[in-house]
Amino acid sequence: MTEKSTAPTVGRKAENTFPCRICGGEVRQWFDFGRQPVSNAFLPPEQVGRTLFYRLAVGLCTSCAMVQQAEELPRGRMFHADYPYRASGSAWMRKHFSEVAERFVETELAGPDPFLVEIGSNDGVMLRTISEAGVRHLGVDPSGGAAEVAARQGIDVRVDFFEESLAREVRAEHGPADVIYSANTLSHIAYIDSILRGVAALLAPDGAFVFEDRYLGDIIENTYFDQVYDEHFYLFSVRSVGAMVARFGLELVDVEHLDTHGGTIRYTVTLRGARRRDSSVREALEREDELGLTDPATFAAFGDRVDRVRDELVALLERLRAEGRTVVGYGATSKSATVTNYCGIGTDLVSFVCDSTPEKQGTLSPGSGIPVRPPGDFTGDYPEYAVLFAWNHAEEIMAKERGFRENGGKWIMYVPEVRVI
Ligand code: SAH
Ligand code: TYD
Ligand code: ZN
Repeated sequence: MTEKSTAPTVGRKAENTFPCRICGGEVRQWFDFGRQPVSNAFLPPEQVGRTLFYRLAVGLCTSCAMVQQAEELPRGRMFHADYPYRASGSAWMRKHFSEVAERFVETELAGPDPFLVEIGSNDGVMLRTISEAGVRHLGVDPSGGAAEVAARQGIDVRVDFFEESLAREVRAEHGPADVIYSANTLSHIAYIDSILRGVAALLAPDGAFVFEDRYLGDIIENTYFDQVYDEHFYLFSVRSVGAMVARFGLELVDVEHLDTHGGTIRYTVTLRGARRRDSSVREALEREDELGLTDPATFAAFGDRVDRVRDELVALLERLRAEGRTVVGYGATSKSATVTNYCGIGTDLVSFVCDSTPEKQGTLSPGSGIPVRPPGDFTGDYPEYAVLFAWNHAEEIMAKERGFRENGGKWIMYVPEVRVI
């Protein structure tokens, strides 16, 4: 499988427009990544022919400011029993989620018989702490393999897609939720109107809907173009989220910036009028105006930077190949699908990618066909260069793999710009 993906004949195409999934307004496309695969389609070689491709393009709504994709994949092709992503794969993220859960237990869940629902609970990385605290909870996630990992730890999970009908069923069965939590999931859901109607129906009158997702401001500022892939159907900003939730009788009352995944915002949403709005919301909106997050020129400049990164990364990898260097990838991330397929990077430039997730090992990376191997293949015979596709876990990985650099190895970073360290 050395066959390269479609050549990047696309790039910026500002003339395309399509209707906004949130408000029906006009969305102006600002980048087209071309033909891209389902980003988590890590499949064994004999099944690679089943990989689904689509056109990955993003635009900005001229009315409500929501950044969104032009085309939608069937949800069951992304999230299913064999979905390989495991949220517990990073020690840093495990710590993050146990802190989130502890904070809920001490604050929002301190009343009598509290109930928490998580949308996108995956392998139970957050609910583990909630469950151990003896709090009533329910995780909802359609990815059966990941949900099974949670269930085996005694966590209550329902293998299904959260949407309005399911939310109403949960309320009838368990009563209202004091907290509805969701991390790195809400932005994945094109039919988010149904989610928000469900949240409004399930939330207790004084309950909190707390969700965290990668932040458009950080993506734009740092040229994190690889945060654009199928699962990130929306790229949220404080402005677009505030306007969106208001359409469903909800209100954005607090925002908090987090460092996870290169920059995330945690949004706290309540039923309209239930709580006082914190000054953090206004302050974030002011910062977004300074950043130009509704200005087409901001997105055009981002597009130019993406193409510079692509050209420099490909030139570097081609030079290393010409010199006969050994180059591998580190972290079989969803992000790497956008990088390899947009840049046309195959096994001729990156011979394999190592990843600690057992479900991904032995498979081929979607589109690029780069084989995924266990970290032992990296440490056993260090390459000369490694492209860090899991750059959001740089600190954790570089600490773990200290031996690589001690052995003369060099990391290749490509965001915010291409550099070798
Ligand atoms: N919360 C974890 C997992 C994020 S991965 C973390 O932050 O690391 C996104 C998860 O959302 C996947 O496990 C996927 O199966 C799930 N998901 C996708 N659509 C969903 C929906 N409609 N309802 C609930 N979960 C959904
Ligand atoms: P992540 O960046 O969380 O996800 P995304 O798919 O959203 O881009 O994925 C990190 C990947 O890197 C995941 O497959 C696990 C892997 N990984 C390692 O192989 N070793 C590590 O030490 C860490 C932290 C992650
Ligand atoms: Zn809109």
